[in-house]
Amino acid sequence: MPPKKGKSKGKNKPKSKGKSKPRTNQPKKQKPKIKTSPVVSIQKAITEEKQKKPKELWKVNPDKQHEFWKTQPVTQFEEKKTEKNEPIKIQTVEEIRKEPYPLPKEFEWVLTDLTNKEVLDEVYELLKGNYVEDDESTFRFDYSREFLQWALFIPNYEKDWHIGVRVVQSKKLVGFITGIPVKIKVMDKIVEMAEINFLCAHKLIRSKGLAPLLIKEVTRRINLKGVFQAFYTAGKKIPTPVASSTYFFRPINHKKLLDIGFFMAEQNMNLQRYQRIYRLPEKPQIPNLRRFESKDSASVCKLVNNFLSKFKLSIVFDEKLIEWTFLSRDQVIECWVVENKQTNEITDLFSFYTLNSSILNNNQYDTLNSCYAFYNIATTVTYVDLMKDCLVVAQNKGYDLMNSLNILDNDIFISELNFKSTGGFLHFYLYNWACPDFLPKEIGIPIL
Ligand SMILES: CC(C)(COP(=O)(O)OP(=O)(O)OC[C@H]1O[C@@H](n2cnc3c(N)ncnc32)[C@H](O)[C@@H]1OP(=O)(O)O)[C@@H](O)C(=O)NCCC(=O)NCCS
Repeated sequence: MPPKKGKSKGKNKPKSKGKSKPRTNQPKKQKPKIKTSPVVSIQKAITEEKQKKPKELWKVNPDKQHEFWKTQPVTQFEEKKTEKNEPIKIQTVEEIRKEPYPLPKEFEWVLTDLTNKEVLDEVYELLKGNYVEDDESTFRFDYSREFLQWALFIPNYEKDWHIGVRVVQSKKLVGFITGIPVKIKVMDKIVEMAEINFLCAHKLIRSKGLAPLLIKEVTRRINLKGVFQAFYTAGKKIPTPVASSTYFFRPINHKKLLDIGFFMAEQNMNLQRYQRIYRLPEKPQIPNLRRFESKDSASVCKLVNNFLSKFKLSIVFDEKLIEWTFLSRDQVIECWVVENKQTNEITDLFSFYTLNSSILNNNQYDTLNSCYAFYNIATTVTYVDLMKDCLVVAQNKGYDLMNSLNILDNDIFISELNFKSTGGFLHFYLYNWACPDFLPKEIGIPIL
């Protein structure tokens, strides 16, 4: 699969929320050399600032392990497993620093108002050029503008949790991080949290300590709203995942995937055989299947919350959030439901979101059209029938492949419908919350 915030291992396997597929054994690209100011001075400026105000800035020392995360209220690697389900550190809003963390003088904090088209374009371009890519730099995520608005403008979003860093002189956007308010159920407790996403530093200012600053600043602003816990995912393993899941992909357009080397044909297989074995019906087969509509919100809210109650970690939805999340938007989110015609209740649901990747350095193709299995609930049909129809809808909309994590009940259809492992991992994290480890099948949050 395309780049994801996870890590891929093994040859010919795409990575996941960390990474996508390796195709060649070409040497890794060298990091671009930083020659000129102002970018070059971030390390120096951070160090100087740190000397002035010892505890206010973070300097990353690559020779030491997790110097930043060691200072944060997260479970550390060496800590024993816990049976607790509670905050690590109790804080009050009054204790929280009122001013933003200082940045080196060449940089400034900005609010990124994504209702503003120019700002939206800037964020889009920053992510398109600098967000997650695979180890071989073959694919890079290409979150669309519409996707960013869908992901970030959920009901009750906090506009000052969408944070950017600009170069003062040129006004160029070089850093980004976001939080959205969510209610998360951890086992038997419902906790107000922030869901953190889109952490990004421009390639020219990597390994200089901007990530810890972005994390600390978003944390500060979240804390000021009385929220002291967060949920996030990453392909990178940092202290300490509450669960780790694996990415799988189901090819749809075999020709393109083989052409770009997304995966290699197995022994005794060729394009025609793949196409025959993986052939899908032309139309969905389940009776009374249709797109989700606003009028379904109450029924779907009941269905989703009831379904999610069996997982150890999940989001708690209300009707507004259901409508925002599941109303189909072209090339962003698709949600289809099965309606019981007698009761008008929604009994089953499938959904997927679009997250394309740029195909880097390929003369024939520039975009991998990818969708990701989102929430899927089968109560009156089988998961295999439900997800087969989901794949049919994806096929008819022109996607090259569907990706899925082995969370929720996804294991059931992953094996039956010929999904392949990408070798990529996605780790789930909680900030300032201690709880036991969970299995992937106990996780009920398909993160974007
Ligand atoms: C993620 C990114 C912002 C990190 O920036 P960086 O310049 O590599 O790292 P910095 O020198 O600023 O900071 C390093 C610290 O940030 C932490 N860090 C790096 N990536 C992280 C992530 N995804 N989540 C949380 N912490 C992260 C590191 O673990 C390290 O802290 P530690 O020493 O305590 O372990 C940058 O690599 C990037 O933009 N990558 C592409 C997009 C991406 O992968 N985003 C994350 C998606 S989950």
